[in-house]
Amino acid sequence: MERWNYVIRNAKLSSGVIVDIAVQDSRIEAIGPRLAEIGQEEIDAQGQLVTVPLVDAHIHLDTTLTVPHRATNHSGTLLEGIQRWSEIKPNITVQDVKNRAREAILWEVAHGTLQIRSHVDICDERLTALHALRELKDEMASVVDLQLVAFPQEGVLCYPHGKELLETALHEGADIVGGIPHYEWTREDGISQLEYLFELAHREGRLIDVHCDETDDPESRFVETMARLTKIHRWEGRVSASHTTAMHSYNPAYGFKLRRILRESGMAIIANPLTNIVLQGRFDDFPKRRGMAPIKELDASYVPVALGCDCIMDPWYPLGSGNLLQAAWMALHLGHMTGTEEIDRVFRMATINGQRVFNPAQPDDLGTQRSADLVIWDATSPAEALRLLPVPRTVMRHGQIIAQSQPSHHQVYYQGQALTVDFRPRSAQ
Ligand code: FE2
Repeated sequence: MERWNYVIRNAKLSSGVIVDIAVQDSRIEAIGPRLAEIGQEEIDAQGQLVTVPLVDAHIHLDTTLTVPHRATNHSGTLLEGIQRWSEIKPNITVQDVKNRAREAILWEVAHGTLQIRSHVDICDERLTALHALRELKDEMASVVDLQLVAFPQEGVLCYPHGKELLETALHEGADIVGGIPHYEWTREDGISQLEYLFELAHREGRLIDVHCDETDDPESRFVETMARLTKIHRWEGRVSASHTTAMHSYNPAYGFKLRRILRESGMAIIANPLTNIVLQGRFDDFPKRRGMAPIKELDASYVPVALGCDCIMDPWYPLGSGNLLQAAWMALHLGHMTGTEEIDRVFRMATINGQRVFNPAQPDDLGTQRSADLVIWDATSPAEALRLLPVPRTVMRHGQIIAQSQPSHHQVYYQGQALTVDFRPRSAQ
């Protein structure tokens, strides 16, 4: 009778349907109500939510875990963050970067993230961070898929040998072409940078992910140029613009036009709400603007939106624990996406939309004949997961359990009794 390696019983899908999930070797082989065959190992999900893993579509693993010991950003601005990091950078070593990044990846995995796109600063003659993360990518392949973006933190045209460093990085292990047009000295140089990046990506057959318009300046409009270049190079589905925070300051008429051309270009937007609510608005008196691309309007315009943690304890963001649910939680607040369906849409941004950005060929949702990569949450719905931000009970990758945690247990002593509290409403049921 025993047939499968694992059967996960009483798993609640995002749709609310309760099913059993059979896993054999590295794949999901069957999903359905009350599967008859038993597994060598049976896991009772107890009606908890089971989903595909989270995807952290944007982080900087080379700068992670450097604060507060090595730097503090006193002004809280993006520009001081770049300055503080440029002071740390000459002293980093391969081992140092690997130690910090490895720890951050383990935190991400414990939180249910199995695909991570990391930008890597290549404005360094030694390319130390790239060499470190390239090694780590292979070393940690059993627990995470890592994509590396060649990121010219200090510019391409305005940095000595910027183009040569970018191209060397692509030949020494970086997967994706990165950029930062708003950091060049002039708008013209920013356009030139983008034209160069697209030609390079086209020549090398690479995806593109550009830090674009990460500023409160409403005159910063490089994302429209990215849309145009995506169309010209027919690079649809292979281009992402990250941050795009200037978009929250565009006038409504321009924002409407921009969303149309973004949709038609086939580009994706990656928002990083945790870092950008900290960095943006620092030059404002009052009111202080929000620091996030308008994800609600983008999503409603069928522009794919994914999410990133961006930073964990670095010169741009001193907090964080590699929990993408925190980013999604912040996103739904800043984006006013608090309707029942909207909360589900934000959960999709953290999972399925991220998968599409990471690898456009990936199948969408949990299903048979796909790799057994899944998360059993300590929550019964996407909305409850985003309300309580739990650590997953179980994380499975390629059919192997790679992370587990015990459900948290809390007691309140009230009127002589020890009452158990789990933050799930009972009085309303
Ligand atoms: Fe970033």
